[in-house]
Amino acid sequence: DTKVWKLEEHKEIQRAVSEAAELLTDRQVVAFPTETVYGLGADATSYEAVEKIFQAKGRPSDNPLIVHFADKSQMNDYVKLIPEIAEQLLAAFTPGPLTIILKSNGTIAENVTAGLSSIAVRIPDHPVASALLQACRLPLAAPSANKSGRPSPTTANHVYDDLNGRIAGLLDGGTTGVGVESTVVDCTSNVPIILRPGGVTREQLEEVLGTVMVDPALAEQVTENEQNQTPRSPGMKYTHYAPEAPLWLVEGDAEFLQAQIDDCKQNGYKTGVIASREMAQVIRADNIKVCGSHKNLNEVAVHLYDTLRAFKKSDVDIILCETYSETGVGQAVMNRLNKAASKKLSQLY
Ligand code: TXA
Ligand code: MG
Repeated sequence: DTKVWKLEEHKEIQRAVSEAAELLTDRQVVAFPTETVYGLGADATSYEAVEKIFQAKGRPSDNPLIVHFADKSQMNDYVKLIPEIAEQLLAAFTPGPLTIILKSNGTIAENVTAGLSSIAVRIPDHPVASALLQACRLPLAAPSANKSGRPSPTTANHVYDDLNGRIAGLLDGGTTGVGVESTVVDCTSNVPIILRPGGVTREQLEEVLGTVMVDPALAEQVTENEQNQTPRSPGMKYTHYAPEAPLWLVEGDAEFLQAQIDDCKQNGYKTGVIASREMAQVIRADNIKVCGSHKNLNEVAVHLYDTLRAFKKSDVDIILCETYSETGVGQAVMNRLNKAASKKLSQLY
């Protein structure tokens, strides 16, 4: 069974962290909180340990993992060089919700990078993650600690629901802060490219670097998901963040959303709605879950995955969800919603 350390009740966090670090040294996998979502960590220098991540998650082996470091000097041992743009990003956003892609020096276990010559590196900003990285003195390969295809975990309960019995340990550090994953920026060429929007916003990146490019594959809308664009970030091609019932994105005003709700109901579907506080006040539906306010997209990001997980297939046939402005962290929110959705209903067309 999975050993769970409840850190808020734990008088000696340091002791729990040392026990978890021992499991990692022993090539076991341990889930831990970061500032974005929970990660499922393993010794990134051990092929055998990293294999256990893929097994526990049911993750396709061609989807590479992010390697987490305690600090920049440790990171230096695994990359060819840190180009100037990467130095600037590290200085501005590290530790923090940013992952950069650099050229690997080949030291890391080969299954971490899924055979690529590049490596994704990140220094998380969370006291438990930092303590764990320091205690085990290992670079930790860590994808989000969910079953492959499910919404990422923002609480230890989410991890437990998906992975209990499949992983050696789980450090329960409460709810994570940002709520969506780190921003992935490719720094292997002269022009930085955002491969995945996340906790560090495009606007923040552009303040430091000037104009930043965005992977064209990110512009894909949900209806075009099947088109065979090859995203640079291999993970982006898989089904992701899927709730238990089909999710339909509804782009339009309250009247339009209400019409969709009524339509679903008329067709005999038990319908759940994920709405902002503002929208929830003006629509009529049996089952509404509020994920935040249009005035505060950070709040929406924090609650997004929990809301996606909250609707169970026993309760609803369809989930309708409104859309958000693609500014700031709204870019990450809409990226995840587009990936989670099987259909988009738009008032504009
Ligand atoms: O916030 C986060 O980044 C969380 C926490 C646990 O750190 N981790 C996370 O990992 O989201 P994961 O495995 O769920 O997503 C990693 C993403 C995938 O889209 C993967 O394809 C991409 O990073 N990636 C990893 N290595 C890459 C590489 N060498 N080149 C391009 N993309 C890479
Ligand atoms: Mg993930």
